[in-house]
Amino acid sequence: MTAIVSMTNVDGVITPTAEARIPVLDRGFLYGDSIYEVFRTYDGVPLFYDEHWARFLNSAALIHLKVDITQDELTQRIRETIVATGAPRSRTDVYVRYMITRGVGDIDLYPSERLRSSCVIIVKAVPDWGAASYTTGVRLAVPSTRRNSGDTLDPNIKGGNYLNNVLGVIEARKLGADDCLMLDSRGLVTEASNSNVFFVLDGELVTPSQLARNLKGTTKAALRDACRAHGIEVHEREIAEEDLTRAEECFLTSATREVMPVASVRLGDGRVVGFPAGGGELTRLAARLYREHVAAYVERHASRSFFR
Ligand SMILES: Cc1ncc(COP(=O)(O)O)c(C=O)c1O
Repeated sequence: MTAIVSMTNVDGVITPTAEARIPVLDRGFLYGDSIYEVFRTYDGVPLFYDEHWARFLNSAALIHLKVDITQDELTQRIRETIVATGAPRSRTDVYVRYMITRGVGDIDLYPSERLRSSCVIIVKAVPDWGAASYTTGVRLAVPSTRRNSGDTLDPNIKGGNYLNNVLGVIEARKLGADDCLMLDSRGLVTEASNSNVFFVLDGELVTPSQLARNLKGTTKAALRDACRAHGIEVHEREIAEEDLTRAEECFLTSATREVMPVASVRLGDGRVVGFPAGGGELTRLAARLYREHVAAYVERHASRSFFR
């Protein structure tokens, strides 16, 4: 893969990411008072671009933030930032993170009406999770930190305050795992630090429903559609930690991980549940159906490619 220079766009000004600056009084920095989305491109096509924008607007509504930029304006800025990385020349796909912070103001929790939101776009290389993450799988651990509930900080706010997830993953690493599998306060499985989780339970593909709050993942939704089109139902329901002792397979989904097998889950009491290396039959089928779904999307949306 050709290396690209990571570039960042702060309110229309593009610089190398290492040189990009925001003011210390920015509320995103002070309070995590911001929202964001992450997508990646395939052949330059921004995957599930409209779905990300819809989720972005939902996050904005959940935090009472007025989005001052239109989707077309955002697209134009993203295009300019991608061009500045040189990616279109080498036809190298990129990772794009766009965010809006509520702006710069006094140190005051209440956001003044006069604040002007700031738009930041970071473009960088697509993360390389390493071959072993797919040939073997990642190890998860259930931390003691519980996932925020819907009535504290709704996990459907894809915002700049990820401390809940940060604490989860720190604890999981201390336990020797790669990532956390967070439970809610009732002990129901929610999601990993930055991806959704699926299991094969009693031969069925299951994933936590919104009853245990988790981010409505774009990859999760696309995989559900891809599976359904092939007659495979994805069941969304409550999954208790104890159910995992019966799970036959497990995998994660996210925009950058795609479908990533899980090799093991360490439960809260130290028991370890193991899964087939590189994913069992349904995990491998899900990965293939997702890849095909993405390929069909990219073909349908070729005119949106940032490489054109
Ligand atoms: C907490 C959390 N859950 C799930 C996901 C997966 O969402 P998506 O499939 O849209 O990348 C993410 C992605 O960043 C996340 O941060």
